[in-house]
Amino acid sequence: MYNIRKITDDLYFVGGNDHRLELFENMFPIPDGVSYNSYLLMDEKTVLIDSVDWAITRDYLRKIEIVLDGRDLDYMLIHHMEPDHCGAIEEVCLRYPKLSIISSEQAFDIMRQIGYDIPEDRLIKVKEGDTMSFGKHTFAFVEAPMVHWPEVIMSFDTYDGTLFSSDGFGSFGAIDGKMFADEVDFERDWLDEARRYYTNIVGKYGPFVQDVLKKASGLPIQRICPLHGLVWRENLGYILEKYDKWSSYEPEAHGVLIVYATMYGNTENASQELANDIVQKGVKDVKVYDVSSTPVSQLIAESFKYSHIVIACVTYNLGIYPPMKNFLMDMQALNLQNRTIGIVENGTWACNVGDLIEEFFDEEMKLMDVLSDRVTINTSLNIGNRNDMDALADSIVESVNNLKELKAKQG
Ligand code: FEO
Repeated sequence: MYNIRKITDDLYFVGGNDHRLELFENMFPIPDGVSYNSYLLMDEKTVLIDSVDWAITRDYLRKIEIVLDGRDLDYMLIHHMEPDHCGAIEEVCLRYPKLSIISSEQAFDIMRQIGYDIPEDRLIKVKEGDTMSFGKHTFAFVEAPMVHWPEVIMSFDTYDGTLFSSDGFGSFGAIDGKMFADEVDFERDWLDEARRYYTNIVGKYGPFVQDVLKKASGLPIQRICPLHGLVWRENLGYILEKYDKWSSYEPEAHGVLIVYATMYGNTENASQELANDIVQKGVKDVKVYDVSSTPVSQLIAESFKYSHIVIACVTYNLGIYPPMKNFLMDMQALNLQNRTIGIVENGTWACNVGDLIEEFFDEEMKLMDVLSDRVTINTSLNIGNRNDMDALADSIVESVNNLKELKAKQG
């Protein structure tokens, strides 16, 4: 009862799901909900590991009480002081007046900024290299700045190899009774949302994630307990490899993402024509999205996935169509790099958007290779565009095949 799951003999999941929140961070659609993960370690000392969003606090407090089964709560360990994980801190402190909070110095600064008034003598500051024993379980603390706020720490239980990874290895999507990644078809049902979560929430900070992955590679990790989504206890290499790719801005798929901005369907039609050509020329992994009707977070996730991106855009007010501009700005903010770009431009008069997009990729982004073949449409696609369309499709297909060959050689 009470939606409590055991992770190990001593560790319980006491977090919960939120299906009522429409927009995570008031920005990202979460049609499948989200989980706020919190764990309770029952050792000689009792340790509540992170907390949850205020929205599910009532249920959360009940779970803690049930697992404690009459024992007091000694510690609350907070890895990340963002409100989706620290919303219940004050209430937990009120109910368990003897507990001390363990976290980083900067996390406590943020906690005060949020407005939690916890007496200093209840705060235990930890930093990289510190350890704390709770009985048979001893935690080693690892600083993980910018994954995804600056105060973040992770901890590693040296007794049983559990890594508490903060937002790292998290995902959008409520867990709804599942607990472990090996209980689901992760690749089919979870990977897209895990990618969308990582790329939009942490994507900007790839080098910091690389640093953490290097630290993690020296640890005998048996399981990973993140703050959102499923716990990993099998096949850890799978998710570590995904994180390595995402954080180094390496594409997962050698294929083509086409994102179009269309007002009356003509640029959409050109995009479909290009997709048709590319597939017929041999590259089958092609995705096409309308920038106006697709959440930008999904476009960002797909941009991190694919090696080649085509921007097909109508000219608007002598500039880039606003939803497309928003997508490009987001791509830049999240530091995406190392992609090959194709451009299709459209304009009924004064068509200049292709130059603006090329300039953006050349000057505002890193390691973006804009193909010299470009298609320029004057209102709607016509027979006069045939050669340019062919040339762009050829150029994209050749580039994808060259990349595949190169990667195959590199093993
Ligand atoms: Fe899930 Fe960065 O908070």
